[in-house]
Amino acid sequence: MRITIDGPAGSGKSTVAKEVSKRLGIPYLNTGLVYRAFAYVCMQEGLEDERDILRLFERPPHVVPQVGETLVYYQGKEISPLLSSEDVGRVASIIASYPSFRERINEFFRSLMNHKQFVAEGRDAGSFIFPDADIKFFITASVEERAMRRYKQLKAQGIEITYEDVLRALVERDERDKNRPLYPFLPPKDAIVIDTTNLSVEEVVERVLSQLREYNRKL
Ligand code: C5P
Repeated sequence: MRITIDGPAGSGKSTVAKEVSKRLGIPYLNTGLVYRAFAYVCMQEGLEDERDILRLFERPPHVVPQVGETLVYYQGKEISPLLSSEDVGRVASIIASYPSFRERINEFFRSLMNHKQFVAEGRDAGSFIFPDADIKFFITASVEERAMRRYKQLKAQGIEITYEDVLRALVERDERDKNRPLYPFLPPKDAIVIDTTNLSVEEVVERVLSQLREYNRKL
């Protein structure tokens, strides 16, 4: 089964997608992590020009979607643990606003997951990357709740930041993601929407799994 989980930053989609991947034993593709990997390489190599960034697809980061996690390597080194900072997220959202970059990275995702069963998660996993997925979810929550979750996550990773800074960065990133002229961030039309503001992770996972059971019954 090909499952997509879309949603804004901090909606809890990564946590839910990881858990669904584990329960079903199918690979998990975290598309945001791959955007971040490209952003990290741009930062390391000082790339800002769109054309130079596109040339990274000649030697892209090596992405390994596994059950419950996505691993990313660059030049033989695992870089997945280096990608969670706000700085990398900010650069990721800048390169994500280049239409030619999105086109290339979407092709990259499709060839990576060709013919496989998977859970793919990201802002546009179901709307643009895998429009023909079998079942699509859109997971969301209020902006304040999303900022609070992200703040706690960063704190737990030992990153020094205030809640206000996280909220500001989130609002800014939401705006940039929503307003890009091509590939704007919108829920897929055929997605099942789940608002997680007042739900625990387990409750959200249960809702997703029950929709999947329902889908399989109808097959
Ligand atoms: O999900 P995450 O915060 O790790 O993604 C980092 C950035 O990459 C997002 O703010 C967004 O701009 C971009 N992104 C995207 N489309 C995706 C995944 C990530 O535009 N499918």
